[in-house]
Amino acid sequence: MPVVEPDIIDSAALPDDGVDYRKQNRELEQELTFLRVELEKFKNEAARAYILSKERHKDSAMMSAQAMKTIKDLHQKIKELDSAKKKIHEAYKDTINRLVIASEYKDNETGNHILRMSRYSVFLAELYGLDAAQLEEIELASPMHDVGKIGIKDSILFKNGKLTDAEFDEMKRHTTIGAAILNNPDSAIIECARQIALCHHEKWNGRGYPNGVKGEAIPINARIVAISDTFDALTSKRPYKMPYPIDVSCDIISKGRGEDFDPSLVDLFVKNIDGFVKIKNSIDEVVVDEAEVRANFTWSERDKEDAAARG
Ligand SMILES: [Fe+2]
Ligand SMILES: [Fe+2]
Repeated sequence: MPVVEPDIIDSAALPDDGVDYRKQNRELEQELTFLRVELEKFKNEAARAYILSKERHKDSAMMSAQAMKTIKDLHQKIKELDSAKKKIHEAYKDTINRLVIASEYKDNETGNHILRMSRYSVFLAELYGLDAAQLEEIELASPMHDVGKIGIKDSILFKNGKLTDAEFDEMKRHTTIGAAILNNPDSAIIECARQIALCHHEKWNGRGYPNGVKGEAIPINARIVAISDTFDALTSKRPYKMPYPIDVSCDIISKGRGEDFDPSLVDLFVKNIDGFVKIKNSIDEVVVDEAEVRANFTWSERDKEDAAARG
């Protein structure tokens, strides 16, 4: 049976031009239905995509919140670790200081000597090009250079006159005693202090003590301290001597270039002598009048022979 189309078109309204308007209408209706179905499908897909993207957004928002929380927790942990590290470092510095104070009880050098030679050492190390970590090691370790004097007899330590050979041999032991006190270090600072304590009386030409180590085989930190310690001893008042003028002290160190001291360090020292004098004046409670030092200058008994030998 043929499908009877509902006659929705008023036949009287159609022009009599031979065109099958009913057929055209049916085709249009079919196209429209197809388009409606497609539209519905598109709407469903769009709705699904929207829901999916919303869920994804929710997931990513949750993930971001979680990541933010983790980052915040990590920051907090780092802050706590930093502060714990700082406290340990402070406690460490405090312990070092107390060790230095203990050794000063058995030494005729003042606290200012320790401070000055530590600052001179850092300055010279900086001029030499050591990095920030090495500078800190030298700053904290150099004050312990004579810690071994704890083990030396007072009669030798506080003797004003020249030491006999036997007494000098005994005095030399402060290097090995210091190294023994600082032995088996578990930190770079104490290892640096051990090297300095052991080697600060070694000489570039190998004629120093306790082991006669030569040239670059002497650790750089000990080569630096050897110059700072000597410069401070020369320019300071000691029970056995008056302070020597800066130029005399500088001259003594220059004459030790390549003999007592590392030549490249001596060159840096001489070239930057003003910087060392500036450090000295910033630490000394009373800035010494060089003219007065010069007027009172005489060689000490201990240095007389050396000075004659140096010419
Ligand atoms: Fe010493
Ligand atoms: Fe010293």
